[in-house]
Amino acid sequence: MAIEDDPPKSWPRRLHGAWQALAGQPAGGGIVPRAPVASSRATEHPHARLIESLIAGLPGAAITLDGDGGVIAFNEAARMLAPALRRGEPALISLRMPELVDAIRRASKSREPQRVEFFERVPLDRWFEAFVVPVKLAGTTGRDADILLLTFNDLSPLRRVEEMRADFVANASHELRTPLAALLGFIETLQGPAKNDVTAREKFLGIMQQQATRMARLIDDLLSLSRIELNAHLQPSTPIDLAPVVRQVVDGLQTLARDRAVEITMAHPPEPLIVLGDRDELIRAVENLVENALKYGEAGKRVDITLTRSQTRTGAPEARIAVRDYGPGIAPEHLPRLTERFYRVDVADSRAQGGTGLGLALVKHVLNRHGGRLSIESVLGQGATFVMHLPLRTADKAPVAEKA
Ligand SMILES: Nc1ncnc2c1ncn2[C@@H]1O[C@H](COP(=O)(O)OP(=O)(O)OP(=O)(O)O)[C@@H](O)[C@H]1O
Ligand SMILES: [Mg+2]
Repeated sequence: MAIEDDPPKSWPRRLHGAWQALAGQPAGGGIVPRAPVASSRATEHPHARLIESLIAGLPGAAITLDGDGGVIAFNEAARMLAPALRRGEPALISLRMPELVDAIRRASKSREPQRVEFFERVPLDRWFEAFVVPVKLAGTTGRDADILLLTFNDLSPLRRVEEMRADFVANASHELRTPLAALLGFIETLQGPAKNDVTAREKFLGIMQQQATRMARLIDDLLSLSRIELNAHLQPSTPIDLAPVVRQVVDGLQTLARDRAVEITMAHPPEPLIVLGDRDELIRAVENLVENALKYGEAGKRVDITLTRSQTRTGAPEARIAVRDYGPGIAPEHLPRLTERFYRVDVADSRAQGGTGLGLALVKHVLNRHGGRLSIESVLGQGATFVMHLPLRTADKAPVAEKA
């Protein structure tokens, strides 16, 4: 800990000595430091209660220190941050963050506000910024007039968003760069060595079309995701019967199913299952699940889609669309991460199938916007079941057909 050598003025001098003492360093001529706990406890700051009431109303953590570095008051949020805080005791004992202690020392010496960032590993990894501001209490004289106000902001959510943004940009550029590199390679070949080779040209143009389609799909999915996120707070309001939606998806995927020799079965209750939704988004979500089941569960040769009327854990009526395949299934460690953008169990396999890893992220966002959720169950070797849970339109708004 650095010892300041220029003679500090009035109250900074007191703080200076106090911090040296608290840090266990001899103040001045090697005098053994006094026991600060006892002395600060003995005299409570005359405005301690008032200050405490005021900072109790602040949303973030706040601590006030007296001229000796003793804690005058702190709020609940500060107690969570530094559980060892005690009124009247030296702050240095309870605030173990070296950056913060340095900032307090700088503020007390210069009487200038200080800002500092620090990282706390326990109990959770969190980033904080702290402001240490010397305050002169109006209407108070002597040593009680000079206090330090410490306020804190939790920067962790911001940092996390920043990290996610960086990851997202890196992933998206990587996914675009791969097909782009292939396209450029083929263009070069067609301009050079394969200039007059008709067979090669046909073959390469086919691959180029595939790669360009993949890029277009990626951009399409990214735009859909951001549009759904943008509208996340707007609950869709059109009554939609789910069975025709699923039927449309199944019809649309018949070619893929035939190519892979997979049979799709569909079961639904006789009465309509009506939800308030956005038809296109629901189609997109169901399509992703059925397409995944066909692509990754191909080996099972069967995909069962079941629509049921059910209840949430709290007893609210909900519709469920379960898509079950009998393929290789998914190992448990992957399940919680499947809905992350660009997350794939087997990247090479997904890419080979034209996948970008955005499908399940899209499903999750569509369901969030509809007030529903996605659940996934899978046992390795026994296939996987993806279930879309959607709140059913309540009875008072049910259509005539449903009441009959
Ligand atoms: N039914 C399934 N069986 C086994 N693995 C699956 C199944 N559904 C999804 N997965 C795994 O989850 C990953 C993520 O799926 P998701 O739909 O988000 O992306 P994708 O299918 O790779 O690409 P996209 O949907 O953008 O075409 C897949 O790459 C695959 O590894
Ligand atoms: Mg998919």
